[in-house]
Amino acid sequence: MGWNLSSLLPLLLLATVFHHHSTVALPLSTNSRWIVSDGEGGERVKLSCVNWVSHLDAVVAEGLSKQPVDVISKKILDMGFNCVRLTYPLFLFTNDSLASVSVRQSLKKLGLIESIAGFQANNPSFIDLPLIKAFQEVVASLDRNNVMMVLDNQISKPGWCCSDFDGNGFFGDRYFDPDVWLKGLAKVATMFNSTKNVVGMSLRNELRGPKQNVSIWYRYMQKGAEVVHAANPNVLVILSGLSYDKDLSFIQTQDVSLTFSNKLVFEAHWYGFSNSEEWETGNPNQVCGRIVDNIMQKSGFLLEKGYPLFISEWGVDQRGTNENDNRYLNCFMAWAADTDLDWAIWTLAGSYYFREGVVGMEEFYGVLNWDWCEARNSSFLKKISPIQSPFQGPGLSNTRPHKVIFHPATGLCVQRQSLFKPLTLGACAEAEHWDYTQKQTLTIKGTYYCLQTDGVGKKAKLGLICTDSSSKWEAISASKLHLSSKTNNGTVVCLDVDSENNIVTNNCRCLTNDNGCDPASQWFKIINSTMSAASEPYSRVDAILQSLGANLFG
Ligand SMILES: *[C@@H]1O[C@H](CO)[C@@H](O)[C@H](O)[C@H]1NC(C)=O
Ligand SMILES: *[C@@H]1O[C@H](CO)[C@@H](O)[C@H](O)[C@H]1NC(C)=O
Ligand SMILES: *[C@@H]1O[C@H](CO)[C@@H](O)[C@H](O)[C@H]1NC(C)=O
Ligand SMILES: *[C@@H]1O[C@H](CO)[C@@H](O)[C@H](O)[C@H]1NC(C)=O
Ligand SMILES: *[C@@H]1O[C@H](CO)[C@@H](O)[C@H](O)[C@H]1NC(C)=O
Ligand SMILES: *[C@@H]1O[C@H](CO)[C@@H](O)[C@H](O)[C@H]1NC(C)=O
Repeated sequence: MGWNLSSLLPLLLLATVFHHHSTVALPLSTNSRWIVSDGEGGERVKLSCVNWVSHLDAVVAEGLSKQPVDVISKKILDMGFNCVRLTYPLFLFTNDSLASVSVRQSLKKLGLIESIAGFQANNPSFIDLPLIKAFQEVVASLDRNNVMMVLDNQISKPGWCCSDFDGNGFFGDRYFDPDVWLKGLAKVATMFNSTKNVVGMSLRNELRGPKQNVSIWYRYMQKGAEVVHAANPNVLVILSGLSYDKDLSFIQTQDVSLTFSNKLVFEAHWYGFSNSEEWETGNPNQVCGRIVDNIMQKSGFLLEKGYPLFISEWGVDQRGTNENDNRYLNCFMAWAADTDLDWAIWTLAGSYYFREGVVGMEEFYGVLNWDWCEARNSSFLKKISPIQSPFQGPGLSNTRPHKVIFHPATGLCVQRQSLFKPLTLGACAEAEHWDYTQKQTLTIKGTYYCLQTDGVGKKAKLGLICTDSSSKWEAISASKLHLSSKTNNGTVVCLDVDSENNIVTNNCRCLTNDNGCDPASQWFKIINSTMSAASEPYSRVDAILQSLGANLFG
């Protein structure tokens, strides 16, 4: 051969990788349900954020006793996030005597002598700064490292959030005077009016408690939005719902009325424990189906209504030992990939200086480990990596609309190396492109090959006669996450993966009732995509192979 295909591949892949790191034109605005970059024909920008906690008793961003601030900022990007939801307590901006307490004094008051030593070792320039300046320095670090930020008013009085009776839950609660809140929001918005990477403000986290009232929600959230926009017209204004940000259903009947447009985003929270132990005690298909339905009614409908929805808190115990969380995660991944929405995971912190009376508390939901050195669980990060990138959106498409077949339990997609190798799971960036036709066949885009079952326990194959039942695929079970077909003698099978990640078909498992059975290996989601990503080189190789096929392999 005069030239070598395999030597071209790395180049083509490299070109794709570089494309992803282009800087975003800021500020951001909205275009229907999408958040988009600045300028004519703004491109979709997908916020994949991590929550960085800065609202606890010490009132300083967590982790600074463990690692230098710029190291943390860079690590956030290394882990595939492009954004931080940085939390703050309102009183940091409305109580001057709190704002002027030094980091050292604040830690000392809580008896955190070790943390003071840690600051002296890792961030000596912070230790004698007033708390407000320390917050500004964290923002400055994220800004110079090109990490986008959403500033989140998590609570009023510093401390762990949230409960119904903590006095921070709703307008009129002991620590939640609406006028003080509006002043604080204006101050935050003004303070960062020229910080480019401050792209959004979450006006108030998890409204809750006995005083909740929809008409008061409209009154103050609209005021808050106006105050922020007047002080800083660049930022996205992000509104949280009621009941711990699980309920925005009232927007179905009444729109938010604002004097400005293209800046409004809604946020919602969804954890495994949001539904108590349902995941563990129920059949995962039925629970996933029921809860996704509920989420769509309470907040997901906003996408269809033409608003961006930011899932500003979700997450799991990353030790992988919490079955309730594990089952929730697979369902969440399928839904997040399908809706392709913006999100912020809880949380960055591997440990806290001081939380709920405990010194140095470890955070098993944290993406970093206890000493903030490394990722707590790199396989978890790999699993969520496909939802860190957009599948679609304005200005992004570099190929025609197609489907990818996503496997939420692994975070991988159905892929083929060539026509001559079995279908396997692989990186979604190199996913095979499919059409899902009216006749429910899954054909490889640009070819006549369709996905077929060859029987129970057999590898799925690609065939050319696509009219019989073995080429028809239907999303079944309450979760709609089983992709089912029928062999030619009528046996119902479901798409599955074997121990080597080959795509096979097996008897459908755990469809109903059985609570002890986890169907996740059989969960697949057919997802809309317009991204060609790295799969293109393989398609090109295939095209060449197909045209040379007879000579090379015949
Ligand atoms: C303001 O902050 C100071 C210092 O933390 C505190 O002692 C005081 O109670 C706060 N005042 C209000 C009104 O919250
Ligand atoms: C930003 O706020 C400062 C006050 O802190 C004000 O002087 C300035 O005009 C504001 N800039 C913009 C672009 O609004
Ligand atoms: C909600 O607040 C409005 C306005 O203050 C009041 O008229 C209404 O009675 C309240 N509703 C409930 C259920 O408390
Ligand atoms: C990482 O998470 C996976 C599940 O997501 C789990 O199986 C594994 O045990 C975890 N590893 C560690 C080191 O916690
Ligand atoms: C269909 O064929 C499989 C073997 O491929 C066999 O195990 C199964 O019993 C057959 N089903 C029917 C309904 O004939
Ligand atoms: C996927 O695309 C189809 C066809 O364009 C559309 O009808 C459907 O609503 C899309 N689904 C999602 C979740 O965006």
